[in-house]
Amino acid sequence: MNYTASKERYNTMKYNRCGKWGLKLPAVSLGLWHNFGGIDRFENGRKILHRAFDLGITHFDLANNYGPPPGSAEENFGKIVKQDFKAYRDEMIISTKAGYLMWPGPYGEWGSRKNLLASLDQSLKRMGLEYVDIFYSHRPDPDTPLEETMMALDRAVRSGKALYVGISNYPANKAKEAFRILKELGTPAIIHQPKYSMFVRWVEDELLDVLEEEGVGCIPFSPLAQGLLTDKYLHGVLEDSRAAREVFLKKADVDRVADKIVLLNEIAQQRRQSLAQMALAWVLKDPRITSVLVGASSINQIEDNVDTLKNTRFTNDELRQIEECLR
Ligand SMILES: NC(=O)c1ccc[n+]([C@@H]2O[C@H](COP(=O)([O-])OP(=O)(O)OC[C@H]3O[C@@H](n4cnc5c(N)ncnc54)[C@H](OP(=O)(O)O)[C@@H]3O)[C@@H](O)[C@H]2O)c1
Repeated sequence: MNYTASKERYNTMKYNRCGKWGLKLPAVSLGLWHNFGGIDRFENGRKILHRAFDLGITHFDLANNYGPPPGSAEENFGKIVKQDFKAYRDEMIISTKAGYLMWPGPYGEWGSRKNLLASLDQSLKRMGLEYVDIFYSHRPDPDTPLEETMMALDRAVRSGKALYVGISNYPANKAKEAFRILKELGTPAIIHQPKYSMFVRWVEDELLDVLEEEGVGCIPFSPLAQGLLTDKYLHGVLEDSRAAREVFLKKADVDRVADKIVLLNEIAQQRRQSLAQMALAWVLKDPRITSVLVGASSINQIEDNVDTLKNTRFTNDELRQIEECLR
């Protein structure tokens, strides 16, 4: 199967600037945390990537440890880029991250310069790339000075191995300090990647205000709460689902929100949207959100998610009804 990208790929997707920066990301981005690893069907992942790119999704998010096994999502993605996307590299924004456990010993995780720069080299090798577009510190490290972690990100840019940098999972006060250091170093910190959905709302307290003040974009991960905010779990736990695997999402998580998702689905139906579309639109309604970073195990899911953009407006009454369901 040879791949040629659709000529229509830029017709409907919306692109938003990362805060004050020049780089634009598609309003819907695709993450490769699940469904692209060594245990998954390679051709299925490949087809999802083709369809995503044809729909205008230019941003693909990875991390050193995505798989399983760790590293295999980058390897598979690298193979697909080589086979199918070589001609389109300049139309793609590829990100990776370092910070979670990747190899044994004291240098295989967290935020030391040693970990970040060695990990970036490994990621580039696995993906067969000369550079990534965005390199992230995947999580704050309580035991490493923030200066050291930020200097490593700065080094990644100066060495030409990353064009921009980002931080992920940093609380508001640490994020603010990180942006101050990166500004002093002259490194473009363009984006923060926090967990945010109808069910996980910590960013609303302070982080989004900090990002706005600093002119930094925001790309929430797990905006569908790993699938809970879709029609997937309306009638229990299907065998072919993340919750059935009982690792990152558990059957007990489904039970906890079972009543809420039925009510939310009714509101989505009134809006003539799928629950997934309403959940993504709800995150995107805040102008400080650059892109929603979704996962997908099928072409249908990615199509459904991109169709969100047909209706991202809410009436005050709909917003009030949603808040009531979430209480
Ligand atoms: N920075 C971090 O620490 C961090 C942490 C987690 C994730 N991330 C990033 O964020 C990305 C997205 O995370 P996520 O996969 O948890 O996101 P998510 O979008 O909340 O969940 C994706 C899952 O929801 C289901 N789904 C998606 N669209 C659907 C639809 N339209 N209808 C029905 N079900 C649908 C699928 O589940 P099934 O697979 O069960 O079909 C899919 O795998 C990751 O790939 C990664 O790039 C970053």
